[in-house]
Amino acid sequence: EGSELRFDGRVAIVTGAGHGLGRSHALLLGSRGAKVVVNDLGGALDGTGASSGPAAEVAELIVKNGGEAVASTDNVATPEGAEAIVRTALDAFGRVDILVNNAGILRDRSFGKMTVEEFDAVIAVHVRGSFLVSRAAFPHMKEQAYGRIVNTSSPAGLFGNFGQANYSTAKMGLVGLTKTLGIEGARANIRANAIAPVAWTRMTETLLPAEFESKFTPERVSPLVAYLAHESCVTTGEVFSVGAGRIARVFVAEGPGWRTDDLTVEAIRDNWEAVMAEQPYLPTKLGEQAGASLQAML
Ligand code: NAI
Repeated sequence: EGSELRFDGRVAIVTGAGHGLGRSHALLLGSRGAKVVVNDLGGALDGTGASSGPAAEVAELIVKNGGEAVASTDNVATPEGAEAIVRTALDAFGRVDILVNNAGILRDRSFGKMTVEEFDAVIAVHVRGSFLVSRAAFPHMKEQAYGRIVNTSSPAGLFGNFGQANYSTAKMGLVGLTKTLGIEGARANIRANAIAPVAWTRMTETLLPAEFESKFTPERVSPLVAYLAHESCVTTGEVFSVGAGRIARVFVAEGPGWRTDDLTVEAIRDNWEAVMAEQPYLPTKLGEQAGASLQAML
Protein backbone atom coordinates (compact mmCIF):
# COMPACT_ATOMS: atom_id res chain seq x y z
CA GLU A 1 0.00 0.00 0.00
CA GLY A 2 1.16 3.54 -0.54
CA SER A 3 2.29 5.77 -3.31
CA GLU A 4 1.64 5.26 -6.98
CA LEU A 5 4.33 3.33 -8.86
CA ARG A 6 5.81 5.74 -11.39
CA PHE A 7 8.41 5.45 -14.13
CA ASP A 8 9.57 9.05 -14.36
CA GLY A 9 13.05 9.25 -15.83
CA ARG A 10 12.89 5.65 -17.03
CA VAL A 11 13.09 4.62 -20.68
CA ALA A 12 11.13 1.60 -21.85
CA ILE A 13 11.19 -0.38 -25.07
CA VAL A 14 8.07 -2.40 -25.83
CA THR A 15 8.37 -4.61 -28.90
CA GLY A 16 5.29 -5.50 -30.90
CA ALA A 17 3.50 -2.58 -29.27
CA GLY A 18 1.35 -1.63 -32.24
CA HIS A 19 -1.48 -3.95 -31.29
CA GLY A 20 -2.91 -6.01 -28.46
CA LEU A 21 -0.88 -6.66 -25.35
CA GLY A 22 2.18 -4.64 -26.33
CA ARG A 23 0.02 -1.61 -27.11
CA SER A 24 -1.58 -1.87 -23.68
CA HIS A 25 1.81 -2.28 -21.94
CA ALA A 26 3.20 0.76 -23.77
CA LEU A 27 0.18 2.93 -22.97
CA LEU A 28 0.35 2.01 -19.28
CA LEU A 29 4.09 2.64 -18.96
CA GLY A 30 3.71 5.91 -20.89
CA SER A 31 0.86 7.07 -18.68
CA ARG A 32 3.07 6.59 -15.63
CA GLY A 33 5.95 8.69 -16.84
CA ALA A 34 8.14 6.26 -18.76
CA LYS A 35 9.56 7.43 -22.07
CA VAL A 36 8.53 4.72 -24.45
CA VAL A 37 9.94 3.30 -27.67
CA VAL A 38 6.90 1.82 -29.35
CA ASN A 39 8.29 -0.84 -31.65
CA ASP A 40 6.19 -2.67 -34.21
CA LEU A 41 6.90 -4.03 -37.64
CA GLY A 42 3.25 -3.59 -38.47
CA GLY A 43 2.77 -6.86 -40.32
CA ALA A 44 0.02 -9.45 -40.35
CA LEU A 45 -0.54 -12.05 -37.65
CA ASP A 46 1.67 -14.52 -39.55
CA GLY A 47 4.49 -11.98 -39.70
CA THR A 48 4.14 -11.16 -43.40
CA GLY A 49 4.03 -7.57 -44.59
CA ALA A 50 4.95 -4.39 -42.78
CA SER A 51 3.50 -0.97 -42.00
CA SER A 52 4.60 2.03 -40.01
CA GLY A 53 0.99 2.75 -39.00
CA PRO A 54 0.48 0.76 -35.77
CA ALA A 55 3.68 1.86 -34.00
CA ALA A 56 3.14 5.49 -34.99
CA GLU A 57 -0.47 5.46 -33.81
CA VAL A 58 0.39 4.12 -30.36
CA ALA A 59 3.32 6.53 -29.98
CA GLU A 60 1.02 9.42 -30.96
CA LEU A 61 -1.58 8.29 -28.45
CA ILE A 62 0.98 8.27 -25.62
CA VAL A 63 2.07 11.78 -26.57
CA LYS A 64 -1.54 12.94 -26.86
CA ASN A 65 -2.11 11.67 -23.31
CA GLY A 66 0.75 13.83 -22.10
CA GLY A 67 3.55 11.26 -22.23
CA GLU A 68 6.70 10.83 -24.27
CA ALA A 69 7.14 8.23 -26.96
CA VAL A 70 8.79 7.49 -30.29
CA ALA A 71 7.88 4.87 -32.86
CA SER A 72 10.17 2.20 -34.28
CA THR A 73 9.29 -0.15 -37.13
CA ASP A 74 12.44 -2.24 -36.92
CA ASN A 75 12.31 -6.02 -37.02
CA VAL A 76 13.19 -7.70 -33.72
CA ALA A 77 14.25 -10.85 -35.54
CA THR A 78 17.40 -9.46 -37.18
CA PRO A 79 20.54 -8.31 -35.37
CA GLU A 80 20.41 -4.99 -37.27
CA GLY A 81 16.76 -4.46 -36.37
CA ALA A 82 17.35 -5.24 -32.72
CA GLU A 83 20.33 -2.87 -32.56
CA ALA A 84 18.27 -0.17 -34.28
CA ILE A 85 15.48 -0.50 -31.68
CA VAL A 86 17.92 0.06 -28.82
CA ARG A 87 19.65 2.82 -30.79
CA THR A 88 16.28 4.56 -31.13
CA ALA A 89 15.92 4.57 -27.34
CA LEU A 90 19.44 5.92 -26.83
CA ASP A 91 19.10 8.59 -29.54
CA ALA A 92 15.69 9.79 -28.39
CA PHE A 93 15.98 9.42 -24.63
CA GLY A 94 19.63 8.69 -23.76
CA ARG A 95 19.20 5.34 -21.99
CA VAL A 96 17.24 2.11 -21.76
CA ASP A 97 15.93 0.82 -18.43
CA ILE A 98 13.06 -1.44 -19.38
CA LEU A 99 12.69 -3.94 -22.18
CA VAL A 100 9.40 -5.72 -22.76
CA ASN A 101 9.92 -8.47 -25.34
CA ASN A 102 6.39 -8.87 -26.60
CA ALA A 103 6.53 -9.06 -30.42
CA GLY A 104 5.12 -12.28 -31.74
CA ILE A 105 3.58 -14.06 -34.70
CA LEU A 106 1.67 -17.28 -35.30
CA ARG A 107 2.05 -19.94 -38.00
CA ASP A 108 -0.21 -22.65 -36.60
CA ARG A 109 -0.23 -26.06 -38.29
CA SER A 110 -0.66 -29.60 -37.05
CA PHE A 111 2.73 -31.21 -36.44
CA GLY A 112 2.58 -33.59 -39.39
CA LYS A 113 2.02 -30.72 -41.79
CA MET A 114 4.25 -28.05 -40.29
CA THR A 115 6.93 -26.83 -42.68
CA VAL A 116 10.49 -25.96 -41.73
CA GLU A 117 9.76 -22.40 -42.76
CA GLU A 118 6.75 -22.18 -40.44
CA PHE A 119 8.89 -23.48 -37.59
CA ASP A 120 11.82 -21.17 -38.27
CA ALA A 121 9.69 -18.04 -38.75
CA VAL A 122 8.05 -18.42 -35.34
CA ILE A 123 11.32 -19.22 -33.54
CA ALA A 124 12.91 -16.23 -35.27
CA VAL A 125 10.48 -13.63 -33.91
CA HIS A 126 9.85 -14.98 -30.40
CA VAL A 127 13.13 -16.59 -29.37
CA ARG A 128 15.70 -14.99 -31.63
CA GLY A 129 13.92 -11.63 -31.38
CA SER A 130 13.86 -11.67 -27.57
CA PHE A 131 17.50 -12.79 -27.51
CA LEU A 132 18.59 -10.14 -30.01
CA VAL A 133 16.87 -7.14 -28.44
CA SER A 134 17.96 -8.23 -24.95
CA ARG A 135 21.48 -8.66 -26.28
CA ALA A 136 21.43 -5.14 -27.71
CA ALA A 137 20.06 -3.63 -24.50
CA PHE A 138 22.10 -5.68 -22.00
CA PRO A 139 25.44 -3.81 -22.18
CA HIS A 140 23.66 -0.50 -21.54
CA MET A 141 21.76 -1.92 -18.59
CA LYS A 142 24.98 -3.41 -17.24
CA GLU A 143 26.80 -0.12 -17.64
CA GLN A 144 24.17 1.73 -15.58
CA ALA A 145 23.74 -1.23 -13.19
CA TYR A 146 20.00 -1.22 -13.73
CA GLY A 147 17.60 -3.03 -15.98
CA ARG A 148 14.22 -4.71 -16.09
CA ILE A 149 13.39 -7.26 -18.80
CA VAL A 150 9.97 -8.82 -19.22
CA ASN A 151 9.66 -11.65 -21.71
CA THR A 152 6.43 -13.06 -23.09
CA SER A 153 5.94 -16.79 -22.77
CA SER A 154 2.58 -18.53 -23.16
CA PRO A 155 0.45 -21.25 -21.61
CA ALA A 156 0.91 -22.97 -24.98
CA GLY A 157 4.63 -23.21 -24.25
CA LEU A 158 4.28 -24.23 -20.64
CA PHE A 159 1.71 -26.94 -21.31
CA GLY A 160 1.69 -27.55 -25.09
CA ASN A 161 -1.10 -26.85 -27.55
CA PHE A 162 -2.42 -28.59 -30.62
CA GLY A 163 -1.13 -27.06 -33.85
CA GLN A 164 1.55 -25.00 -32.13
CA ALA A 165 4.75 -27.09 -32.19
CA ASN A 166 6.68 -24.05 -33.41
CA TYR A 167 5.05 -21.58 -31.04
CA SER A 168 5.16 -23.78 -27.94
CA THR A 169 8.83 -24.57 -28.56
CA ALA A 170 9.51 -20.86 -28.83
CA LYS A 171 7.50 -19.96 -25.74
CA MET A 172 9.18 -22.55 -23.52
CA GLY A 173 12.50 -21.37 -24.95
CA LEU A 174 11.71 -17.97 -23.48
CA VAL A 175 11.42 -19.53 -20.02
CA GLY A 176 15.01 -20.76 -20.33
CA LEU A 177 16.18 -17.40 -21.61
CA THR A 178 14.41 -15.63 -18.74
CA LYS A 179 15.93 -17.86 -16.07
CA THR A 180 19.46 -17.49 -17.43
CA LEU A 181 19.08 -13.73 -17.92
CA GLY A 182 17.93 -13.56 -14.31
CA ILE A 183 21.11 -15.33 -13.19
CA GLU A 184 23.50 -13.42 -15.44
CA GLY A 185 21.88 -10.05 -14.83
CA ALA A 186 21.73 -10.34 -11.05
CA ARG A 187 25.07 -8.70 -10.28
CA ALA A 188 24.18 -5.68 -12.39
CA ASN A 189 20.70 -5.32 -10.87
CA ILE A 190 19.12 -6.51 -14.10
CA ARG A 191 15.96 -8.49 -13.34
CA ALA A 192 14.28 -10.68 -15.94
CA ASN A 193 10.88 -12.32 -15.63
CA ALA A 194 8.34 -13.76 -18.03
CA ILE A 195 4.58 -13.63 -18.31
CA ALA A 196 2.33 -16.32 -19.74
CA PRO A 197 -0.75 -14.24 -20.59
CA VAL A 198 -4.22 -14.88 -21.86
CA ALA A 199 -5.85 -11.90 -23.55
CA TRP A 200 -8.35 -11.12 -26.25
CA THR A 201 -6.29 -9.78 -29.18
CA ARG A 202 -6.15 -10.33 -32.92
CA MET A 203 -3.99 -13.36 -32.08
CA THR A 204 -6.70 -15.07 -30.03
CA GLU A 205 -10.03 -13.57 -31.13
CA THR A 206 -10.81 -16.55 -33.37
CA LEU A 207 -9.75 -19.08 -30.71
CA LEU A 208 -11.24 -17.80 -27.47
CA PRO A 209 -14.94 -17.96 -26.58
CA ALA A 210 -16.77 -14.69 -27.33
CA GLU A 211 -17.48 -14.02 -23.65
CA PHE A 212 -13.74 -13.69 -23.04
CA GLU A 213 -13.58 -10.40 -24.94
CA SER A 214 -14.81 -8.20 -22.11
CA LYS A 215 -13.00 -10.13 -19.36
CA PHE A 216 -9.63 -11.13 -20.79
CA THR A 217 -8.60 -7.64 -21.80
CA PRO A 218 -4.96 -6.68 -22.40
CA GLU A 219 -5.48 -4.01 -19.71
CA ARG A 220 -5.88 -6.85 -17.22
CA VAL A 221 -2.39 -8.12 -18.08
CA SER A 222 -0.32 -4.95 -18.38
CA PRO A 223 -0.25 -4.01 -14.66
CA LEU A 224 1.83 -7.14 -14.01
CA VAL A 225 4.25 -6.17 -16.77
CA ALA A 226 4.53 -2.69 -15.27
CA TYR A 227 5.12 -4.08 -11.78
CA LEU A 228 7.85 -6.44 -13.03
CA ALA A 229 9.36 -3.48 -14.89
CA HIS A 230 9.45 -1.30 -11.79
CA GLU A 231 12.54 -0.75 -9.68
CA SER A 232 10.66 -1.75 -6.54
CA CYS A 233 10.24 -5.29 -7.89
CA VAL A 234 13.43 -7.28 -7.30
CA THR A 235 12.02 -10.67 -8.24
CA THR A 236 13.94 -12.33 -11.06
CA GLY A 237 13.89 -15.46 -13.21
CA GLU A 238 10.22 -16.18 -12.54
CA VAL A 239 7.26 -16.93 -14.78
CA PHE A 240 3.75 -15.70 -14.09
CA SER A 241 0.46 -16.82 -15.49
CA VAL A 242 -1.79 -13.79 -16.00
CA GLY A 243 -5.27 -13.28 -17.41
CA ALA A 244 -8.57 -11.60 -16.57
CA GLY A 245 -6.97 -9.97 -13.55
CA ARG A 246 -5.64 -13.17 -11.96
CA ILE A 247 -1.90 -13.68 -11.46
CA ALA A 248 -0.12 -16.84 -10.34
CA ARG A 249 3.50 -17.87 -10.16
CA VAL A 250 4.30 -20.78 -12.46
CA PHE A 251 6.84 -23.24 -11.11
CA VAL A 252 9.21 -25.72 -12.62
CA ALA A 253 8.72 -28.61 -10.23
CA GLU A 254 10.30 -32.03 -9.86
CA GLY A 255 8.90 -35.15 -8.24
CA PRO A 256 10.56 -36.87 -5.28
CA GLY A 257 12.28 -39.19 -7.75
CA TRP A 258 13.36 -42.79 -7.68
CA ARG A 259 16.88 -44.16 -7.97
CA THR A 260 18.73 -47.42 -8.01
CA ASP A 261 22.39 -48.43 -8.24
CA ASP A 262 21.44 -50.81 -10.97
CA LEU A 263 19.60 -48.75 -13.55
CA THR A 264 18.32 -50.96 -16.32
CA VAL A 265 15.63 -50.41 -18.91
CA GLU A 266 13.49 -53.01 -17.15
CA ALA A 267 14.00 -51.46 -13.72
CA ILE A 268 12.70 -48.20 -15.14
CA ARG A 269 9.65 -49.97 -16.55
CA ASP A 270 9.00 -51.68 -13.21
CA ASN A 271 9.32 -48.44 -11.23
CA TRP A 272 7.59 -46.12 -13.65
CA GLU A 273 4.94 -45.16 -11.13
CA ALA A 274 7.61 -43.92 -8.71
CA VAL A 275 9.27 -41.93 -11.49
CA MET A 276 5.93 -40.35 -12.37
CA ALA A 277 4.98 -39.60 -8.77
CA GLU A 278 3.67 -36.11 -8.15
CA GLN A 279 4.97 -34.84 -4.87
CA PRO A 280 6.61 -31.76 -6.20
CA TYR A 281 9.48 -29.93 -4.72
CA LEU A 282 10.71 -26.76 -6.32
CA PRO A 283 14.35 -26.62 -7.25
CA THR A 284 15.28 -22.99 -7.76
CA LYS A 285 18.74 -23.60 -9.16
CA LEU A 286 20.30 -26.10 -11.53
CA GLY A 287 22.68 -27.17 -8.74
CA GLU A 288 19.81 -27.86 -6.39
CA GLN A 289 18.24 -30.22 -8.87
CA ALA A 290 21.48 -32.14 -9.45
CA GLY A 291 21.81 -32.22 -5.68
CA ALA A 292 18.59 -34.18 -5.44
CA SER A 293 20.14 -36.98 -7.47
CA LEU A 294 23.18 -36.95 -5.21
CA GLN A 295 21.03 -36.98 -2.12
CA ALA A 296 19.08 -39.98 -3.34
CA MET A 297 22.38 -41.89 -3.22
CA LEU A 298 23.04 -41.16 0.45
P1 NAI B 1 -0.77 -9.14 -31.59
O1 NAI B 1 -0.66 -9.77 -32.91
O2 NAI B 1 -1.88 -8.17 -31.36
O3 NAI B 1 0.59 -8.40 -31.22
C1 NAI B 1 1.85 -8.84 -31.64
C2 NAI B 1 2.57 -7.66 -32.26
O4 NAI B 1 3.91 -8.02 -32.59
C3 NAI B 1 1.91 -7.21 -33.56
O5 NAI B 1 1.55 -5.85 -33.47
C4 NAI B 1 2.98 -7.46 -34.61
O6 NAI B 1 2.97 -6.51 -35.66
C5 NAI B 1 4.25 -7.39 -33.81
N1 NAI B 1 5.36 -8.08 -34.45
C6 NAI B 1 5.33 -9.30 -35.02
N2 NAI B 1 6.53 -9.62 -35.52
C7 NAI B 1 7.35 -8.58 -35.25
C8 NAI B 1 8.73 -8.33 -35.52
N3 NAI B 1 9.48 -9.22 -36.17
N4 NAI B 1 9.27 -7.17 -35.09
C9 NAI B 1 8.50 -6.26 -34.43
N5 NAI B 1 7.19 -6.44 -34.17
C10 NAI B 1 6.62 -7.59 -34.57
O7 NAI B 1 -0.86 -10.31 -30.52
P2 NAI B 1 -0.87 -10.29 -28.90
O8 NAI B 1 -1.85 -11.27 -28.47
O9 NAI B 1 -0.94 -8.91 -28.38
O10 NAI B 1 0.58 -10.91 -28.61
C11 NAI B 1 1.59 -10.26 -27.85
C12 NAI B 1 2.52 -11.32 -27.27
O11 NAI B 1 1.81 -12.07 -26.30
C13 NAI B 1 3.04 -12.31 -28.29
O12 NAI B 1 4.37 -12.64 -27.97
C14 NAI B 1 2.14 -13.50 -28.07
O13 NAI B 1 2.75 -14.70 -28.51
C15 NAI B 1 1.96 -13.45 -26.59
N6 NAI B 1 0.82 -14.19 -26.08
C16 NAI B 1 -0.45 -13.76 -26.29
C17 NAI B 1 -1.51 -14.47 -25.77
C18 NAI B 1 -2.90 -13.99 -25.89
O14 NAI B 1 -3.78 -14.61 -25.26
N7 NAI B 1 -3.18 -12.94 -26.64
C19 NAI B 1 -1.31 -15.74 -25.07
C20 NAI B 1 0.05 -16.07 -24.83
C21 NAI B 1 1.07 -15.32 -25.35
